[in-house]
Amino acid sequence: MKEKTDNVTTEVKMPLADKKITVGIAGGIAAYKAADFVSFLHQQGAEVQVIMTAGAQEFVSPLLLHALSGQVVITDMFANDASLHIPHISGVDGADLFIIAPATANMMAKAAHGIADDVLSAAILAATCPILFVPAMNMHMYENIATQENMAILRQRGYHVLEAAEGRMACGTVGKGRFPESSILREAVSAILFPRQDLAGKKVLITAGPTREHIDPVRYISNHSSGKMGYALAAAARSRGAEVTLVSGPVTLPAPQGVAVVPVITAEEMYQAVLSRYEEMDIVIGAAAVADYRAQSMAEQKIKKQDAAKNSLQLNLVANPDILQTLGEAKTRQYLVGFAAETENLLANARRKLVDKKADMIVANDVSQPGIGFYSDANAVTLVTQTEEIGLPAMEKQVLAEKIWDAILAKLDK
Ligand code: C5P
Repeated sequence: MKEKTDNVTTEVKMPLADKKITVGIAGGIAAYKAADFVSFLHQQGAEVQVIMTAGAQEFVSPLLLHALSGQVVITDMFANDASLHIPHISGVDGADLFIIAPATANMMAKAAHGIADDVLSAAILAATCPILFVPAMNMHMYENIATQENMAILRQRGYHVLEAAEGRMACGTVGKGRFPESSILREAVSAILFPRQDLAGKKVLITAGPTREHIDPVRYISNHSSGKMGYALAAAARSRGAEVTLVSGPVTLPAPQGVAVVPVITAEEMYQAVLSRYEEMDIVIGAAAVADYRAQSMAEQKIKKQDAAKNSLQLNLVANPDILQTLGEAKTRQYLVGFAAETENLLANARRKLVDKKADMIVANDVSQPGIGFYSDANAVTLVTQTEEIGLPAMEKQVLAEKIWDAILAKLDK
């Protein structure tokens, strides 16, 4: 766009100039809202390629999307169009961002399970750029465990999945499932396209997951930690520019992209892995649920039932090293964050841990509340520092991870 002032012509750069965005529209009523968003992206200077499923075309016409995006819409996997070499691949080739809006339950289910039976699901599988799912559907479909689990799978694989908004839906029900407000959508797009780099130059080490303490060759002591919080913290730090090392106990999560994962099993191994890297770190977060005790010695052979006394078996346990405390005592310049997973006296215990372990921040986590903590994708915490207690309500662990980093950075800036 050119603007003329006092005979001087200046180039005004559009916010999304040089950005190539593919928008995949699936078959939901909110398709008309996606059309509006396509128009917005195009007006902001983005090169927009629209892909529509057959269902989407029942709600809005490809002709409308052609007009709003300025480009021919991809509707057919087998189109004989010389300009689109292989439609589902050319549609995402070179894209900076792929937005699926509305992301229907069906489209997310396909994406979560690698099904590629139409042009949009095939494009999702072929895309190498960041993908943002914008769910919108009937509230019962949204809340269905299958949909929720599919969304969780997508998030775990590093895709961005927005929460649906609450309110009245076209089907007449009131609940969660509405297409998000455009301001939320704009924010999400800008966060992906222009990620903050406020952790650039920082070396970060995060511990995550449980540890496993061997009893004999087939048995161990462990806990319910899934590792999701630590992995979310690692992924968030990486996207904000940090150099991230993730010392992880045994979990089933995929390694976040660009993060150096050091796999460990026992607390002793975690201790060694962390201590040997501590010196060079700027920020360390102990999100792992480290087993406090281990068997005094590991039996070389499987302990037989008849080896035990009739009704009980004595197992001698010895204390594991407290990694966070060791780090607190050896601290030179590092900012040290610990977690306190408690079932009672949450804040008092967190404050005590802050002092005892010489940490700079404790993330206090009430694991007795249903729906948050160990098993779930959400968490509600209080950040406890020397001077402040910041309560954060229940939210997705990925969102919470960003808030924890915001709080750490605010402290580092002081
Ligand atoms: O004392 P407690 O186990 O409740 O403290 C929890 C915090 O201490 C967490 O940040 C956890 O990662 C860390 N911790 C540790 N080494 C241990 C036990 C806990 O680093 N052996």
